[in-house]
Order: sequence, then C-alpha cells, then structure tokens
Amino acid sequence: MSKLNIESKVKLNNGTQMPLLGFGTYQIPDGEITYNSVLYALKIGYRHIDTAKFYGNEISVGGAIRDSGIPRKDIFVTTKLWPNDALNAEKALETSLKKLDIGYIDLYLIHWPLPGLVKKTWKRLEKIYKNSDTIKAIGVSNHNVNQIKSILSIATVKPVVNQVKCSPYNFDPKMYEFCQKNDIVMEAWGPLTQGKKLSDENLTTIAEKYDKSPAQILLRWCIQKGIVTIPKSTHEKRVAENADIFDFQISESDIRKLDNFSKKA
Ligand SMILES: NC(=O)c1ccc[n+]([C@@H]2O[C@H](COP(=O)([O-])OP(=O)(O)OC[C@H]3O[C@@H](n4cnc5c(N)ncnc54)[C@H](OP(=O)(O)O)[C@@H]3O)[C@@H](O)[C@H]2O)c1
Repeated sequence: MSKLNIESKVKLNNGTQMPLLGFGTYQIPDGEITYNSVLYALKIGYRHIDTAKFYGNEISVGGAIRDSGIPRKDIFVTTKLWPNDALNAEKALETSLKKLDIGYIDLYLIHWPLPGLVKKTWKRLEKIYKNSDTIKAIGVSNHNVNQIKSILSIATVKPVVNQVKCSPYNFDPKMYEFCQKNDIVMEAWGPLTQGKKLSDENLTTIAEKYDKSPAQILLRWCIQKGIVTIPKSTHEKRVAENADIFDFQISESDIRKLDNFSKKA
C-alpha cells in the first residue's frame, strides 16, 4: 500500500477524485458551530466536507468553505437529496446550491432509497447530472445490494458511491465486495459508532498496541480498506485527533480482527 496522507484520494468511476478522509456535519446546528467546525477542519487539512439538506446546515457549511481561503477546486463537497424531494430533485438541488453558494457540488447523493421509486429517482438524478455542470458526480446512500442492482439494470450513469453505516461493529462484507466488484466506492457514515463503542475493550486493546486512540483505529481501519470515512466532531481537539491517522499502519491480522468485530457485537 502506498503511504496515505490527509489528501489521499480514491478515483471514482466517472474519473473524479474523492479524499478518503472527510468531515461529517450531521447534528451540528446551522450557524456559528457549523461555521467554526468546518473552518477549523479545513484549516488543519481536511479537504472533504459532507452535508445534506436534512442537516439544515448547508448555509454555514458553504460560508466556511468560501471564507477558508482555499481554492474551491481543492475541496470536495457532498450534499444529499432528501427522499421527500425525490420527484422534485431539480428544485431540491437548486435550493442546496443556493444555500451552499459555492458554485457546484462535487457529489450529490440520494440520501435514502424510496421503496418503489429507487429506479425512478436514479433516472431523474441521472438526467440532472447529464444536463448540468453543477454536480460533478452522483451516488446513493443507505441502499442495499438489491436496490443498487436494480439501479445498475437501468443506469446509463453508475452511482460512484454508496454511503452506508459502517464501522468494524457493523461491517457488511457482502456490500463491501459488491461495491468493489462494481467499481462503486463504499463510504462510511457513523465511522466512530456515533461514539457508542469507543470504550469497548476489544477496540481499546488494539488502540493501546498502536499507541493511538480508539477513534483513530476505527478511522484508520476504514482508509486502509479503501473505505471513505467522514467522522464528525465539534471539538477542535477531536477534529485534529481524527485527522492524525496517517503516521501508522494497522497490521493485516489486526485488520482481520477488526473486520470480525460485528460478529461479537
Ligand atoms: N447518509 C446518512 O444517512 C448519514 C447518516 C448519519 C451520518 N452521516 C454522515 O456521516 C457523518 C459521521 O457520522 P455521525 O456524525 O453520525 O457519527 P460519528 O462520526 O461516528 O460519531 C460522531 C460522535 O462521536 C464523537 N466523537 C468524534 N470524534 C471523537 C473522538 N476522537 N473521540 C471521542 N468521541 C468522538 C462526536 O462527539 P463531539 O461532536 O462532541 O466531539 C459525536 O458524538 C455525519 O456527520 C454525516 O456527515 C450520514
């Protein structure tokens, strides 16, 4: 494996590139907290920000990106289409673009599948993608293998990403293999188990061995597997800690141990 760093990227199936480490913004309220958190993340080297219409913080995310002084082209920004807007996606995209006010969106995801409308929503998004230069890539989130298969059966543009709940505690090897086989990047939300498993002894034992924190082990596990990861924190110390994962490597045998944590949970 070549040496990874904070700017390491994965190539998406449409040729664009996405940083392996991003900054998540779920449950960070719009306003000062989001603005300061995103600005700080960018200042210390994150170059990928994940938001969504549903998070209600696109205005502050966009403000921090604009004020960061970092060229727009050097920051990868994801936002998402909420299921209620599936049949009105053009309007939803327009609203997100207006709120973010950063010119374009690097990745637009269908936030959750709408049963019965999975193919129709994808077709709609595909059309927007083809006719507009305001989204650089499209993908899905929280879709299962069958839902992605149904998309692939009608797609003329493949999803570049499936963003799913993923950590060693809920790792789905079938989804991981399916994504690899179909050139779809798997992206982990909740990579820190939303804080719930950080004291688990199986994890703290591995963390002590590498002299790293449990959070750093969980994030390093993702990036070594080529899984894009987007930890969230509103505390500067943790935002920095979560990015300090490029000076060590987890052994293959410990990666396998972590892969199997979900069987113990
Ligand atoms: N597509 C989807 O449906 C979906 C769903 C959920 C999330 N997401 C995306 O994925 C991102 C990450 O997921 P998430 O926010 O749900 O959960 P997460 O990143 O797994 O965990 C965040 C929690 O861990 C705490 N934390 C962060 N760093 C820590 C550290 N170094 N040590 C100890 N605790 C730490 C945070 O607290 P503090 O903030 O207090 O530090 C927060 O409570 C979201 O922000 C969002 O962008 C997507």
